[in-house]
Amino acid sequence: SNHQFAEMLRGHEEAATFYQRVFAFTEEGNAGREYASQRGFTNEQLTHFQIGFAPNGWENLATFLTKKNFTEASLVQAGLVAERDQSEGVYDRFRNRLMFPIWDSQGKVVGFSGRLVGEGKPKYLNSPDTPIFHKNKLLYGLHLARASIRKKNIAVLLEGAADVVAAWGAGVDNGVATLGTALTEEHAKILRRNAEHILICYDSDSAGQSAAFRSASLLEKAGCTVSITTMPEGYDPDDYIKAFGAERFNSDVIGSGQTVMAFKMKYLRQEKNLRDEGERMSYIEEVLEELAALPRAIERDYYLRQLADEFSLSLDVLKQEQYRMYRETK
Ligand code: CTP
Ligand code: MN
Ligand code: MN
Ligand code: MN
Ligand code: MN
Repeated sequence: SNHQFAEMLRGHEEAATFYQRVFAFTEEGNAGREYASQRGFTNEQLTHFQIGFAPNGWENLATFLTKKNFTEASLVQAGLVAERDQSEGVYDRFRNRLMFPIWDSQGKVVGFSGRLVGEGKPKYLNSPDTPIFHKNKLLYGLHLARASIRKKNIAVLLEGAADVVAAWGAGVDNGVATLGTALTEEHAKILRRNAEHILICYDSDSAGQSAAFRSASLLEKAGCTVSITTMPEGYDPDDYIKAFGAERFNSDVIGSGQTVMAFKMKYLRQEKNLRDEGERMSYIEEVLEELAALPRAIERDYYLRQLADEFSLSLDVLKQEQYRMYRETK
């Protein structure tokens, strides 16, 4: 109902303020402040993203909100607390975590993503889906980045909240992320409504690479043109900025996107020893097959020539072979 809706929003607003106050002003907030400074978050970043801290106890938030006349049932429904198993009452869902508020597209807090301070599992805990929070259509940071995304006609798609915050600190103010979920068709449509171009900037581990392929294809289906960034193996944007600085992040990562096809070719090469003739042939064939599926003739031609040059092949032969492949798939 409308009333429940409003209560959930009010609960999140109060909770965000609570976590921010604990972070900024209290003794219990020490652990959070230490962790944030160890991660290199500046005051500007902490303020812009309203980052807070959930203290390490079972009912800090529950007590605070109950005193503000929230019913336990409404707090459970909002996903801020959970019902106890063994006894009556509720307990705080988020404990000992750095808290990233999650906003809807209008800038209302509708959930949280909590990064555990220290080691343990799960590293990230997100709010559950509720009537006000739908993971499969929410993009973290969109309301903050929207004006820049529209102006630049490009959005930078990152893996998570921490990467959006780090990228923003490096001057990238058009970054958004999905939260603990793969990109959906819904996300892709929302992005397309705000920009034509998308730069995918996922982690450079194998999980990030395969996710990049998946997201790229959904985004292309939604009508976006897509580029993909690369970083040295094992880095994510946050690590990269810490290791190499903002300037190199902008020039060598954000400013050096590759087409999905170039990214695919690099990916196909990784698994092969191109000095081996047999593997070289299979690489060429795989690339030809990928190329045959490209809708844009210019792009097809561009990579066909690149392939011909690199392996000293006649362009005619490559074209014939590609035509044969194309016929076979019909
Ligand atoms: N994420 C999430 N829920 C999960 C896992 C990940 O919301 N269950 C989001 C987080 O916002 C995180 C991002 O996805 O920032 C990337 O995840 P991952 O690469 O696994 O996190 P790390 O970079 O290893 O996290 P950190 O830098 O905090 O150590
Ligand atoms: Mn990752
Ligand atoms: Mn990461
Ligand atoms: Mn990590
Ligand atoms: Mn990281």
